[in-house]
Amino acid sequence: MSDGTADRQLRERARAVIPGGMYGHQAAPGPAYPQFMRGGRGARVWDADGNEYVDLMCSYGPVVLGHQHPEVEAAAARQAAAGDCMNAPGPIMVDLAELLTRTVRHADWAILAKNGTDATTMCCTIARAQTGRSKILVATGAYHGAAPWCTPRPAGTTTADHANLGHYTFNDLASARRAAAEAGDDLAGILVSPFKHDAGFDQELVDPAFARGLRTLCDDKGAALILDDVRAGFRLHLGSSWEPVGVDPDLSAWSKAIANGRALAAVLGNDAFRGGAKSVFVTGSFWFSAVPMAAAIATIAALKDEKAIEAMHRSGTALRDGIVDQARSWDLAVNYTGPPVMPYLTFAGDQDHQLAGVFAAQALRGGAYLHPRHNWFVSAAMTGDDLALVLEATDQAFAAVRKHLGQLAGGPPCPAQQPNPTRPRPLPSGPGRTT
Ligand SMILES: Cc1ncc(COP(=O)(O)O)c(C=O)c1O
Repeated sequence: MSDGTADRQLRERARAVIPGGMYGHQAAPGPAYPQFMRGGRGARVWDADGNEYVDLMCSYGPVVLGHQHPEVEAAAARQAAAGDCMNAPGPIMVDLAELLTRTVRHADWAILAKNGTDATTMCCTIARAQTGRSKILVATGAYHGAAPWCTPRPAGTTTADHANLGHYTFNDLASARRAAAEAGDDLAGILVSPFKHDAGFDQELVDPAFARGLRTLCDDKGAALILDDVRAGFRLHLGSSWEPVGVDPDLSAWSKAIANGRALAAVLGNDAFRGGAKSVFVTGSFWFSAVPMAAAIATIAALKDEKAIEAMHRSGTALRDGIVDQARSWDLAVNYTGPPVMPYLTFAGDQDHQLAGVFAAQALRGGAYLHPRHNWFVSAAMTGDDLALVLEATDQAFAAVRKHLGQLAGGPPCPAQQPNPTRPRPLPSGPGRTT
């Protein structure tokens, strides 16, 4: 590894001109992490000092096919040569809206924007416009963006910003029914993530009965069922993430992966909510730029052609199996939760994420970029070599956790620091794509 001089210098300059040195979720997740990245290709990224990592964060979701995917980049370059930000949208906007409505089962129309927060906020606005009501129910602890109504940090917000929210517990239908009853005849919609992916906590897959129950509740109340597919969309399924569950929302929010790293978001909706969508004034200076739309069309085509969802699932499953085996061999109690393509690892009793921090920092040193307090993302570019490198790094990371626990206990060097004959070796070549 190079010594981090470039990153240190950039941080110093950033501290003077960027509040806090960096803001939001892309502030480096720990002292061992580089703050700045120089480039990415396939499943690898390079930091400002040129250190290389297998990327298990994928820019927190946007990179689904891998960095610099050739067809996506070519499509974006072709559109850029013709024009990006013009006086009106390009014809490609209609092409993309048609493709999205063909690809996502519940969608009859699409509105395009930039960020996930644009999309979740717009879904709430459309639900209110359509129903003429105010209240939106959200799951306690769920993240839906950084606008005042949904930011997890109260600084700078007012009680009025949250006044029209009610709360339920994910996967607890009775709690949603109670919150709906409290909203009475003012319930505009229920906003829900496809699975529980609150940062820093064990993840929870959706109980299909809960999803069906929310659908029925919304139908009974005449409210919108809104799926926040910003983080998971097009990683779990080429359609809404609840299509495999058999539940269609009225409105869904998308961003992150839909243009493989280009700035694009979408609200998709059914005909029942078209009137509401037509009535609201929604726009943004850059919402109509054509290059990300070209990238999205190429992304969806590549996801299909390359059977990328299946590839990610295979790599994610091999990653999970390898890591769970390693934890067992180091005699460490862990929870490895969430879908294989968006996993998260916690250590039993590690409330303050201390062990997760030790694990992630050592994995980083070994060349695997993952996160101690946020779910990870597997991309379709992950090769067998990438996977082998990650598993080598995570094995060392478990060794570091074991050593750390030994030091905390103040005991003699921990036996698990010795080579463990039963410990599985990293796979020589994993089952991901081998391009
Ligand atoms: C589930 C979910 N909804 C909404 C958002 C907000 O998206 P953005 O950061 O693009 O505004 C995020 C971002 O992480 C997210 O994970």
